[in-house]
Amino acid sequence: MSTVAVVPGSFDPVTLGHLDVIERAARLFDEVHVVVVHNPSKSALLPIAQRVTLLEQAIAQAGIAGNIVVTSWSVGLLVDYCTDVGATVLVKGIRSQMDLSYETPMAIVNRNLAGIDTVFLLPDPANAHVSSSLVRQVASLGGDVSPYVPSAVAEYLAKTELP
Ligand code: PNS
Repeated sequence: MSTVAVVPGSFDPVTLGHLDVIERAARLFDEVHVVVVHNPSKSALLPIAQRVTLLEQAIAQAGIAGNIVVTSWSVGLLVDYCTDVGATVLVKGIRSQMDLSYETPMAIVNRNLAGIDTVFLLPDPANAHVSSSLVRQVASLGGDVSPYVPSAVAEYLAKTELP
């Protein structure tokens, strides 16, 4: 039986840390859906459609597109998306104790809601300090974000006027 996993997130924008988690999830599971979800508690930099495009480009450039689907989800619970596509696992990257505290209640609620388990992956230590919020801040102030993001994202941010 094949296992479908969902890697959800704001991906605003996708970072090398995200890409590492996506790549490892794609090795662990038969099919991986990378799902861009609007997080109302964060102020967004990029439109959802642009985040999807950048994810697709980054995944293609990394040569890992084989068993990965990129999409977005904006209506209802994330577990509803999982159920719709037959996914039984959520995958999240955990960089720190803070991430674990943030993710644990969501993992418990998602399991209670629909029996969907969450698998936590530890990041490559090289990416442990990388976050989308750091990238947003540096990019908005005109700094170089190329060490933290896939080249498609660095190129897009360099040519885009940011708020
Ligand atoms: O990258 P982020 O912002 O940390 O991702 C958080 C996200 C979008 C995965 C999380 O907010 C989420 O799962 N939202 C979907 C709404 C939902 O299903 N909520 C109830 C269970 S937590």
